[in-house]
Amino acid sequence: MTDKAKQDRVLIFDTTLRDGEQSPGATMTHAEKLEIAGLLDEMGVDIIEAGFPIASEGDFAAVSEIARQTQNSVICGLARAQFGDIDRCWEAVKHAKRPRIHTFIGTSPLHRAIPNLDMDQMAERIHETVTHARNLCDNVQWSPMDATRTEEDYLCRVVEIAIKAGATTINIPDTVGYTAPRESAELIAMLLRRVPGADEIVFATHCHNDLGMATANSLAAVEAGARQIECTINGLGERAGNTALEEVVMALKVRNDIMPYQTRIDSTKIMNISRRVATVSGFPVQFNKAIVGKNAFAHESGIHQDGMLKNAETFEIMRPEDVGLSETNLVMGKHSGRAALRSKLEDLGFELGDNQLKDVFVRFKELADRKKEIYDDDLIALMRTSSDPENDRLKLKSLKVVCGTDGPQQADLVMEVDGVEKATTQTGDGPVDASFNAIKALVPHTARLQLYQVHAVTEGTDAQATVSVRMEEDGRIVTGQSASTDTVVASALAYIHALNRLLVRREKGGKDKPEISYKDVS
Ligand code: KIV
Ligand code: ZN
Repeated sequence: MTDKAKQDRVLIFDTTLRDGEQSPGATMTHAEKLEIAGLLDEMGVDIIEAGFPIASEGDFAAVSEIARQTQNSVICGLARAQFGDIDRCWEAVKHAKRPRIHTFIGTSPLHRAIPNLDMDQMAERIHETVTHARNLCDNVQWSPMDATRTEEDYLCRVVEIAIKAGATTINIPDTVGYTAPRESAELIAMLLRRVPGADEIVFATHCHNDLGMATANSLAAVEAGARQIECTINGLGERAGNTALEEVVMALKVRNDIMPYQTRIDSTKIMNISRRVATVSGFPVQFNKAIVGKNAFAHESGIHQDGMLKNAETFEIMRPEDVGLSETNLVMGKHSGRAALRSKLEDLGFELGDNQLKDVFVRFKELADRKKEIYDDDLIALMRTSSDPENDRLKLKSLKVVCGTDGPQQADLVMEVDGVEKATTQTGDGPVDASFNAIKALVPHTARLQLYQVHAVTEGTDAQATVSVRMEEDGRIVTGQSASTDTVVASALAYIHALNRLLVRREKGGKDKPEISYKDVS
């Protein structure tokens, strides 16, 4: 690559599997993590942060396996500023063709106070740990967590120490989503100007979205000289999330006239991976989300539709095909066969095994009996209801609900619980409440419902409703999804889906919050 091309290249570092998976309830299974890593590699992500190996056996196993399987991307693992963390991280990433260790410590006054290290002690810790990482791996990334709230002089001092100790990438995190575009640019420019050796390494930008400025802050940092953007699919991540991969990639593509930087990403893969991440994480994409939202390419108002028909460019700055959205949306009906369903689902990014296809096909036929026209979105909703009929301990057998203006509403429920059929009748404040009370009567638990969300998948009164629920029990957070043309049935199925996951989690033990905390570096 020429020096000029190198200058114009921006590396995409995806942390969906680490920072994204930290969202409460977004926990993915081992197989799901491998699948997402494969899709990230295929779409051209330069670096995949595959997990935090010391956090749990599961994280370690996932990072090791992703490291073994990935063809092109650099595989990175996260480690706190401790030798034990760094060693464990290396054990997991060393199987990769191109491994990277990412180690970090909180450098702002608030973060320094937690391990109770003064400035000199922390500087010494950074020197020791980056040196240790570099002795194991020749690709080392170092992050001063909460960099945007760290004193500038101290930030320059520690960045210089990390570079001298061998860090090849310095990441500047806006951990709490506090910075603004001009400040983000000035911070990178200041580091490039003041830190000796800064021109020898790559600066990365890692922005959280608490004020809705993550993407703008990342792009501003690039304009000032950062050459690696850290991001997640759909902007997944704790609180308001992270910079969204699809937003930075499309912004750089569409506004290349004013931001002349290139990425390696194949943008036509965006829609597919966005849908998969929404499904496996249980975090649906908001309808008006830039690039990947359901409405991002929908033109409802009369003026817009008229303009679109004359010339699509009147209201579209990119084409749906650029992000992998196919134009034909009407798909199938009740006469469509299994092979057609498999092929359509593959187009939508779902690779199914034979057993899974069998289950989905049954549900597809049931849906086709109730709904004449089945659209892509209906199939995606069907896939979101990822029940596992062979292993689920709880199954819905039947649900009858009485509702209307004269309460109380009543639910007659039959469920199979560990192979035994059980029935109950319960009342509630509305049909959903009555159904949830009935489920709780058959499967007593102390989990608290944190979220209950309903969306109509398509237009029309026969549209399917997708329901998402999130529940918490003793620090374990699980989500459940389902879809049905009957909103109350979809709600009950989503609740049962979450309970099935909770039972699995109870057996495995462990909590969502790792026993060790990111702040615990002493
Ligand atoms: O937001 C943050 O500071 C992080 C670090 C661990 C890099 O995710
Ligand atoms: Zn982060």
